[in-house]
Amino acid sequence: MTIKITGTGSALPEKTVTNSDIAKLVDTSDDWIRERTGISERRIATNDTVSSLASKACTNALEMAGRNAEDVELIIVATCSPEFLLPCCACQVQSDIGAHKAVAFDLNAACSGFLFALNTAYAYVQAGLYKNALIVGSEVLSKLIDWTDRSICVLFGDGAGAAFVETSDIDEICENGRKVGVESIVMGSDGTKGMTLSCMERGLANPYVEKIEKVNPYVHMDGQEVYKFATRQVPACISTALEKAGFTTDDIDLFVLHQANIRIIESVAKRLKADISKFPVNLNRVGNMSSATIPVLLDELNRDGKIKKGDRLVLSGFGAGLTYGASVLVWG
Ligand code: ACO
Repeated sequence: MTIKITGTGSALPEKTVTNSDIAKLVDTSDDWIRERTGISERRIATNDTVSSLASKACTNALEMAGRNAEDVELIIVATCSPEFLLPCCACQVQSDIGAHKAVAFDLNAACSGFLFALNTAYAYVQAGLYKNALIVGSEVLSKLIDWTDRSICVLFGDGAGAAFVETSDIDEICENGRKVGVESIVMGSDGTKGMTLSCMERGLANPYVEKIEKVNPYVHMDGQEVYKFATRQVPACISTALEKAGFTTDDIDLFVLHQANIRIIESVAKRLKADISKFPVNLNRVGNMSSATIPVLLDELNRDGKIKKGDRLVLSGFGAGLTYGASVLVWG
């Protein structure tokens, strides 16, 4: 038994913030940001929340799948920037879209979150617990960013992407002879490098604590360490996922990678000896939206007709934790 993605959806805030707009806030320039990251502009939430963006993305995904909210059995929202600690965002989405029968919970694996959610849904389906799931990556990182810190505020954007996945009892074979579904999964975590990319929520505080520490509530990153980690670990885990599935890089039609930085994507393509034209990019327009990058890119490719039935895809991401992963699947 496997799963296939039958609908995708996304939602972005209306407000576009260009590099030149940010250069009015901090000492930076369009040239510096584009050269180091590939980003030209990003969307920033002024009215939307993590749950409102997630709900819109889910509604779009369900519409494409031709399903109603009442059909949904499981909702997993991957986010590291929910508006509430309680209740979780997935329960807010369940209520917003009216998916009354669904079990709903959040998962936090930062930028790897959507991939981890997809793999979790796959495992539940394999175990026979559910027949379908809405999986979502949604972030409003703009509220976790110190907008006076030029090393961070230029990197991120807000947005949400969703996919509706379903199982089918019979194997579906495409015209090119490929069987639809997930071929292999690799996931990993390295908590020893956790402080490389961090954001503290709140410190220990109760009447019995001697001195209540004030915490810095903003994202902190050692950019060069993250760069080294990503350029080593992402190609390594993609290679492992390909090996598990019995494929080489040449067998893959599209590599849909976490959109953090164009230099990381180019380095991964080079290390895999894969053609860079197989690595679609949207980070120039939307920045790094953490868990939302992969599903938003998938939705754009899907709606633009750039993913065809029978295409073999690698999805791969890395993020805070540190976490990383890759999945190989055939699009149905
Ligand atoms: N504009 C102008 N100058 C800047 C800016 C800016 N926005 N930010 C930093 N600088 C300056 C620094 O102050 C420093 O100046 P100095 O030499 O006078 O001290 C200089 O540029 C170099 O700073 P570095 O931090 O060394 O810059 P680096 O070349 O490493 O580029 C970057 C930073 C783009 C973040 C890089 O480290 C990188 O690509 N890291 C990968 C990680 C990444 O992309 N993370 C995204 C989020 S994480 C995730 O998605 C999981």
